[in-house]
Amino acid sequence: MRVLGINAIFHDPAAALVVDGRVVAAAEEERFSRRKHGKRPVPFSAWELPELSAAWCLASAGIDVDALDAVAYSFDPGLCRDAADVGLSDPWDWLRVDYARRAPQFLAAALPGLDPEKVRFVPHHVAHAASAGLAAPPAGDDTAVLVLDGRGEVASHLAGVYRDGRLTPLYSQQLPHSLGLLYEDLTRHLGFLHSSDEYKVMALASYGQPRHLGQLRDLVRVTDDGGFQVERIDWSSMAKAVAAGGELAEEHADLASSVQVRLEEVILDLSRWLYDASGGATTLAMAGGVALNCVANARLVAEGPYRDVWVQPAAGDSGTALGAALHVAGELGDRSAPMAGADLGRGWSDDELEAELRRAALPYTRPASIAAEAARVLADNGIVAWYQGRSEYGPRALGHRSLLAHPGDPDTTRRMNDVKGREQFRPIAPMVRAERFAELFDGVYPSPYMLFVHRVKPEWRDRIPAVTHVDGTARVQTVHAETEPVVAELLAEFERRTGLPVVVNTSLNTAGRPMVDTPREAMELFGSAPVDLLALGPFAVHRGALGGAR
Ligand SMILES: [Fe+2]
Repeated sequence: MRVLGINAIFHDPAAALVVDGRVVAAAEEERFSRRKHGKRPVPFSAWELPELSAAWCLASAGIDVDALDAVAYSFDPGLCRDAADVGLSDPWDWLRVDYARRAPQFLAAALPGLDPEKVRFVPHHVAHAASAGLAAPPAGDDTAVLVLDGRGEVASHLAGVYRDGRLTPLYSQQLPHSLGLLYEDLTRHLGFLHSSDEYKVMALASYGQPRHLGQLRDLVRVTDDGGFQVERIDWSSMAKAVAAGGELAEEHADLASSVQVRLEEVILDLSRWLYDASGGATTLAMAGGVALNCVANARLVAEGPYRDVWVQPAAGDSGTALGAALHVAGELGDRSAPMAGADLGRGWSDDELEAELRRAALPYTRPASIAAEAARVLADNGIVAWYQGRSEYGPRALGHRSLLAHPGDPDTTRRMNDVKGREQFRPIAPMVRAERFAELFDGVYPSPYMLFVHRVKPEWRDRIPAVTHVDGTARVQTVHAETEPVVAELLAEFERRTGLPVVVNTSLNTAGRPMVDTPREAMELFGSAPVDLLALGPFAVHRGALGGAR
């Protein structure tokens, strides 16, 4: 069966193509439209579809629109109720629902030749759940699944269990109670962009003390049926509101810390309830925007009841395109294959990359090993724009569209945040050779998708200061030679030169822009930022060769 998945309703519009239960392509619309998060999550934009990513998914697989068996849309307007009835103050919500109802017609217009009858609505949290439960590595037995986000149709949470590819829902917390909306509210209060900058709040939290935890335990409570309640919170009573981009003080870090810790406690309680209700499933799969909170995820692994915790790398709404497609493929009789990696987006052949370099008239070489060439520049404290293979699905750069640097120089954090125009309190993350992980870090292993924080062992903190956050943690990506041979080679070569099995890895983009996707965007970034080497597939472009100074 050929199923195209579509996420379009709130933010992070995306498309995914599942053929015979296997995902063959998945991409976020922002990588095509170059508009971060695709669109703002307002009702007025709900009709907009991931047209470019959907067309690319089909073209990349050589599938015509009329050969699709179904289109899976990750929101079911039939489940919606009046916003006021579910306790939301969203006077235009009816418009969102109206647009969703007409999605089959909008899709038929965007994908000429599509029969609108082939469009199936998938409940939002079922789509999230499928992106976790059906895409996770095989567990050997039942897989518990926990979804937490801002909102879907009428809920913000789903706890359930996958048994033989079928989901049994166990509890779903109804709106307006929402851990995702709670975190979004706080994000707004701290002067950041909600539905976008929540990870900055998480980073800020590690600078503070949870002074308001007692109060938050009263305001955010778990219930004994597997759900939770969130009261209205007067944020200003705990820390004054920050204007957009305004100065942050200790009180703001303390508030962020308090909410972060309470979130972790609630997630732990929900996961324990789910463990019991699912009959002791040993594996937990997670999705929903809250599952991108890698600090909470790490605590869940450390203190929760599960042997294994797997988080969908596209845990935010973009991942519902994949989940909806997997869910419908299952309904049509296909058995899902676990996803092999997050590199599901666009890629270019070596010949195509070389043609792009020629077109740009850039002086390039083809070294015997691009990995060794990049390692040499990194060991010399240079910054490398690393562009290899297919682009990543989800918000993390995982060695395909990455900006790399030396972890041993304390000044690297400032330089990288300068290159990217980011706030200086933001940490940068390490990638490490899988076989060296345990020597440097404690915590979840393997961690190929950077969805958990790890403790840097004390003896390594001074050796890799650039990736050690203020609280002694790092958000590690483990690199496995079987799945990422070129990155593994780079790390091995860097270690040979420096004794450090770690390289700084951050996403290949500049502030406010989506990650680089095409070779041309990689060259544009290289030309406009102080990057020393562009490693475009097997080709090398050195800053020095351009006649500029480092
Ligand atoms: Fe969601």
